[in-house]
Amino acid sequence: MRSILKYFLIFIIIFFLFCQTSEKKLKIGLIAPLTGDVKTFGESVKNAFLLAIEEANQRGGVLGKKIEYVICDDKNDPTEAANAAYKLINQDKINAIIGSVASKASIPVSEICEQSKIVMITPTSTNPKVTVREDGTRKRYVFRACFIDPFQGKVAANFALNHLKAKTAAVLYDVGNDYVKGLAEFFKKSFEEGGGKVVLFESYQKDDVDFSALLTKLKKLNPDILFLPDYYTKVGLIAKQARQLGITSTLMGGDGWDSPELPKIAGEAIEGGYFTNHYSPEDPRKEVQEWVKKYQEKFGKIPDALATLSYDATILLLTAIQKANSFESEKIREALNEIKEFNTVSGKIIFDENGNPIKDAVVMQYRNGKARYVTTVRP
Ligand code: PHE
Repeated sequence: MRSILKYFLIFIIIFFLFCQTSEKKLKIGLIAPLTGDVKTFGESVKNAFLLAIEEANQRGGVLGKKIEYVICDDKNDPTEAANAAYKLINQDKINAIIGSVASKASIPVSEICEQSKIVMITPTSTNPKVTVREDGTRKRYVFRACFIDPFQGKVAANFALNHLKAKTAAVLYDVGNDYVKGLAEFFKKSFEEGGGKVVLFESYQKDDVDFSALLTKLKKLNPDILFLPDYYTKVGLIAKQARQLGITSTLMGGDGWDSPELPKIAGEAIEGGYFTNHYSPEDPRKEVQEWVKKYQEKFGKIPDALATLSYDATILLLTAIQKANSFESEKIREALNEIKEFNTVSGKIIFDENGNPIKDAVVMQYRNGKARYVTTVRP
């Protein structure tokens, strides 16, 4: 009897020790659109996330532990993104989340992380609502590595007014997409504040494929600028139809244009079009050129802004964990809050009172089927 008790006690002790050590694992979750309408975004974000982790693991990991990870595909869908967040938190027991990519997916993830007190850093979601609630209060566990859309909209509007000398603009946007609708509104506001006139501000639905009614109306108004703040698949479609109808307005958009697929979908129609973005691989700074080389060697392509921001966000998280000297979410959150300035590949970040990075934007232009650097805009 006594020996049974002894074995039982030994078993309990071993079990307890096992639980203790398994709790000390470092596991990071990634949520990204690996399939669906913006899958080049997901691929880039995943590649750079894996690269950052691989490099850190080669240096011995973080706080003496190898970093483990779990990757989930949200298909650029808010419900899928929410399910992924629940799975990562409840089943995989991750310590923190990188993701998601599109704002409409990151918003539900941010609410779940906030409730579960799990730190998330979205590399790329630029809509203000990702880190701030409707009532204006800050979501405490939610961070990002990119600038936000009020700034992006202003950069685009000022470029149109000052550089392109535009007087009029038309804006078409997906009313059900937080990022697209937000950027449309921020552009409009800044364009009007700068003395421009928005002659048409019209919405469409996510699944619309025929824009002829809207574009026929637009053609008569002949605006200097046609602002299309959607992602590349939709922009490609609208751009093509606009040119087919004989619309000659200069096309402009936001970071959602950043995909090698856009010139493939739109062809000639996107030539000369301008868009705002987070970084340019043509930036001569040493950090950027080293990054471009390293990424290119590994993945055989030039890193886009999504890859770059994903690398930045992952390093930011690992740095915070190191500083926190802990894998606990609460400690990681505190450490992130204490980081006021951070050097990233895409430039130096200064965090504002809502944890939103203040950083430079670039303007790019599609020329001969490639996104080329035009200028840098300081906040
Ligand atoms: N900013 C976009 C969003 O919030 C995502 C994105 C970032 C797309 C960078 C392309 C490049 O939905």
